[in-house]
Amino acid sequence: MRGYFGIGVERLSKPMNAGNLFRTAHAFGAGFVFTIDAEYSVKRARSDTSKSPDSLPWYEYDSAAELALPQGCQLVGIELLDSAVELPRFRHPLRAAYVLGPEMGSLSPELVARCAHVIKIPTSFCVNVAVAGAIVMYDRLITLGRFGERPVSALPAALAHAASATDNPGGRHRKRR
Ligand SMILES: C[S@@+](CC[C@H](N)C(=O)[O-])C[C@H]1O[C@@H](n2cnc3c(N)ncnc32)[C@H](O)[C@@H]1O
Repeated sequence: MRGYFGIGVERLSKPMNAGNLFRTAHAFGAGFVFTIDAEYSVKRARSDTSKSPDSLPWYEYDSAAELALPQGCQLVGIELLDSAVELPRFRHPLRAAYVLGPEMGSLSPELVARCAHVIKIPTSFCVNVAVAGAIVMYDRLITLGRFGERPVSALPAALAHAASATDNPGGRHRKRR
């Protein structure tokens, strides 16, 4: 997949949620993980069976002001705010750092002010923070990954057409080189 991403949490209080999120991030190919004003321990989390900090760079920041990202990496807040862009209409930056808020509360105004984008999953109320992170990472995978088009229906002809388009992405219009 093109680009890279990192994912982190601000003021998360339940270690199990951070463990779930970081394990999922590891599985989805995250380049780094981070916490802001939150402690993370694989041992206390008990849910990060992949021990993501053994495989991924892991950064701890004391405050939103201290957060430092690689050059060109855009900070994307994930929060159920009225002003946030709905995930299905969002184009993920190739270089992105996603950040989620705490179980009780939401992303701090200081952090929201630093975000290049704030996105929301169109749900009627907040879902679990690790679930929200997983949905966003999956959305990134299916929109930036190279999976080809979905079939327009489940009928065999549409399935065969989609399979041939995936095998030959440019179709008959592709120029010979
Ligand atoms: C459980 S929610 C926080 C509680 C919530 N503010 C409330 O109403 O009680 C924890 C975090 O998950 C993320 N989150 C949960 N549902 C979301 C959604 N539908 N869209 C975007 N972010 C969501 C946000 O980062 C949020 O700060």
